[in-house]
Amino acid sequence: MLPHHFGCVENDQIATDTSRNAVADTTTPMPRILLLYATTEGQTALIAERIAHTLREKGHNVEMLPADTTLPDLNPAAYDGVMVGASIHYGHHPAYLHKLISRHREVLAARPCAFFSVSLSAGGPRPKLAAAQRYLDKFMRKTGWQPQLAASFAGALKYSVYGPIKRRVMIVFMTLGGGETNTSRDYEYTDWAAVERFAHSYAQRLARA
Ligand SMILES: Cc1cc2nc3c(=O)[nH]c(=O)nc-3n(C[C@H](O)[C@H](O)[C@H](O)COP(=O)(O)O)c2cc1C
Repeated sequence: MLPHHFGCVENDQIATDTSRNAVADTTTPMPRILLLYATTEGQTALIAERIAHTLREKGHNVEMLPADTTLPDLNPAAYDGVMVGASIHYGHHPAYLHKLISRHREVLAARPCAFFSVSLSAGGPRPKLAAAQRYLDKFMRKTGWQPQLAASFAGALKYSVYGPIKRRVMIVFMTLGGGETNTSRDYEYTDWAAVERFAHSYAQRLARA
């Protein structure tokens, strides 16, 4: 089982100013990072964008790819590091992502990797941290992949983008779990500072690799 990283923090000391060195040294090519994300309502994509932005500020060359459309062509061996993010629906990360990661497990094991899971269990008014940890553990178990860094981030409740059936399902879930049932607005629970700390921790891992 991986250690708990809710809200996402690794114990590493976070460097405060690595970007200046990174940009100044033009003779060393910066690592090429693949940031693969699986999103349904868009929150994981937003988190991936924030991570990409933070890594790019440090001079890293980040390529973001949606996991669902990249299945056949994906070549993680072309990258120096790989980060994967995926959201939870009905207790699971997407099955296509399990397959994708399992297929590339050996290539991933040979480079610095990180994984983040996005769910409502990881935050919000009534967080269920044990459930969020189980989602992470299950993903590692099913894929056989052990990224060096892993985190669960709270996602969002986006009533405005759900269709009528999904909205009703979410009202039931929220009623049972003590969440928001007022559908006239959306609720974002993502801790953006934790997301940025995660990106910094990953940059440190890359620098050590
Ligand atoms: C239909 C549906 C089912 C969900 N099931 C779960 C669940 O089982 N556990 C959980 O913690 N969060 C669950 N969530 C919350 C999502 O993980 C959360 O909304 C997340 O932000 C979605 O990320 P995405 O927009 O990138 O897809 C569910 C959300 C929806 C809409």
